[in-house]
Amino acid sequence: MFSASSERIRRDIEAMSAFTASPGQGMTRFSFSGEDRKTRDYIKDRMKEAGLTLFEDAAGSLFGRRAGSRADAPAIMIGSHFDSVKNGGCFDGPAGVVMGLEIARVLHENGIETEFPLEFAALVEEEGARFGGGLHGSRAMTGKVSREQLDSFKDRDGISVADAMKSFGLDPERIAEAVRPKGSLKAFIELHIEQGPILEAEGIEIGIVKTIVGITQQEVEILGRPDHAGTTPMDMRANALLAASEAALFLDGAAKEAGEGTVGTVGRMEVFPGGANIVPGRVFFTVDIRSVNNGKLEGVVSSLGLFLKEMEKKYGVTASMKEKIKVAPVEMSREIFDLFSTEAEKRGYSTKTMQSGAGHDAMIMAAVTDVGLIFVPSKGGRSHCPEEWTDYEQIRKGVDVILGTVLSLSGAKV
Ligand code: HGY
Ligand code: MN
Ligand code: MN
Repeated sequence: MFSASSERIRRDIEAMSAFTASPGQGMTRFSFSGEDRKTRDYIKDRMKEAGLTLFEDAAGSLFGRRAGSRADAPAIMIGSHFDSVKNGGCFDGPAGVVMGLEIARVLHENGIETEFPLEFAALVEEEGARFGGGLHGSRAMTGKVSREQLDSFKDRDGISVADAMKSFGLDPERIAEAVRPKGSLKAFIELHIEQGPILEAEGIEIGIVKTIVGITQQEVEILGRPDHAGTTPMDMRANALLAASEAALFLDGAAKEAGEGTVGTVGRMEVFPGGANIVPGRVFFTVDIRSVNNGKLEGVVSSLGLFLKEMEKKYGVTASMKEKIKVAPVEMSREIFDLFSTEAEKRGYSTKTMQSGAGHDAMIMAAVTDVGLIFVPSKGGRSHCPEEWTDYEQIRKGVDVILGTVLSLSGAKV
């Protein structure tokens, strides 16, 4: 039975881990940054070594294509994203990209011919850490990224996605060319770290994902009035921070009340002008809500919207909430789920059916093709932090399960 090399997996992940804007403080690799460029170049070299034909799509995602014996057959896409959150970990995304590189190498060095073509993917801006929203590479492939969004989505320095793309030699006018024609993909297969505690706590080697929760991210701006903190009486203020703080607490309560594992988070809040002796005139904050129950997801968003209206009256402020992304809960392909189970069983790996509380490109690709997603354990369940860790042997087992799945799904002659 063919097997992956944890040594090469380690080498690739360690090499990519060096490309961070926050050395010593975890992984910060924003899309279309210098760190992106170095990582992209590293992945390109590994793809060339594996005999792949490289291309970048109009959104900036990187692919290595391997021809099948049936040229006109739909491709099996395998991979994940290579951008990160701010001060995050080295495995979230890259573990799935390296899974693809390792499978490409095993096929190449064993001269394995497949019936279906394969595309190994390194997708951009899944986290949305630079421009907000996220799942950008997969949304571009499925026609969910408009030309307008490329101008309106901006980073903290006011640089739009379009401007950042141009700095990478991409033409935002051509974004629609990233869309994959209907029927051009046979499957999208992803490996990801669990980013939670379950697999490790239960001593399970492989998580096979059945459902990915629905997700929405919103951006809220509250406009009050900046005033002198010493001379403005307490009953004459329009304090934007008080309204924002009450809204953050309301979201926490609304998510808990919704139940069924619904979560709500204010992860980023910025106070302007930000002086110790100035009543906050403007506050910006992000809202992240997730639920396996779409009705509850929608319910929390609308109740937050109503609460913001109450805050306007209570504090004499104006509040606006802008949707950055909203994706309903998604079921993974039963056929691919069963293939994962068979391949894990063949190798004697323990498995657990799981729901993903994290979003993944697989949830977007499900709109156009069959998708499969497996998890490998996260040490202490930690992720989106420098402590994020998965043993290379654990990743190898996940790669082996996907290797076996790809061999059978692609009609490999072995
Ligand atoms: O936010 C998420 O769930 C993923 O890490 N992008
Ligand atoms: Mn992530
Ligand atoms: Mn991820």
